[in-house]
Amino acid sequence: MQAEKVLNKEFVENLREQFTRFGLVYKFALEEISTKVNILKDEFRLIHDYNPIEHVNTRIKSAESLIRKIQKKNIPFSLEAIKENIRDIAGIRIICSFVSDIYRISEMIQAQSDIEVVEVKDYIKNPKPNGYQSLHIVMKIPVFMSDRVERVFVEMQIRTIAMDFWASLEHKIYYKYNKQIPEHLTKQLKEAADTVAELDRKMEDINNEINILKENDKS
Ligand code: GTP
Ligand code: MG
Repeated sequence: MQAEKVLNKEFVENLREQFTRFGLVYKFALEEISTKVNILKDEFRLIHDYNPIEHVNTRIKSAESLIRKIQKKNIPFSLEAIKENIRDIAGIRIICSFVSDIYRISEMIQAQSDIEVVEVKDYIKNPKPNGYQSLHIVMKIPVFMSDRVERVFVEMQIRTIAMDFWASLEHKIYYKYNKQIPEHLTKQLKEAADTVAELDRKMEDINNEINILKENDKS
């Protein structure tokens, strides 16, 4: 009886440690990718006198949301299975001024030799039927721990301010209507997404024109 208790305590302690380490790895992965993005941002600003990144957010998937996804996807409840099958425990969202900046950032990130690109989903070239636009990159990045290297999934979303505005509102509406948006609103949201794409195109054109003027001024 006594031995069983000790064993249980050890087991629980062990589990606790495993969980803490599991979460920590994702925190480290986000710190690493944030540093990478910050370097790109600062260096780009220095060289081109221009900042392609408006802001950056990172988040670790909440326990509730993680458990919901594990159940939905029918994943065995083991850390190994979770690590392999849930690719968005660590998420980073980069908000750019222009669509061209999105592809620039994406290329620079994908070119980094320690980043393993697992999947790229271009919802800008191919928006979702509801109108959602963003560039998604699922990658694996190495985290160097005291006794091992862990390669963990990070989901990166890159979008413009306008796309982000649309996605935030759509997300709110989606949950307000319990994931069943009334048809007339679906249609209006799609129209708004088309307007977003049009706005992004216009802003890009204006920016290109300004850049040409700047170049001419120099010469
Ligand atoms: P899940 O995360 O299981 O949905 O994986 P998936 O394979 O469907 O990935 P996908 O790249 O399509 O979407 C991942 C994330 O992008 C989501 O968790 C959201 O943050 C965002 N996203 C995707 N589609 C939409 C959408 O229609 N509206 C909004 N607001 N966000 C979306
Ligand atoms: Mg999805």
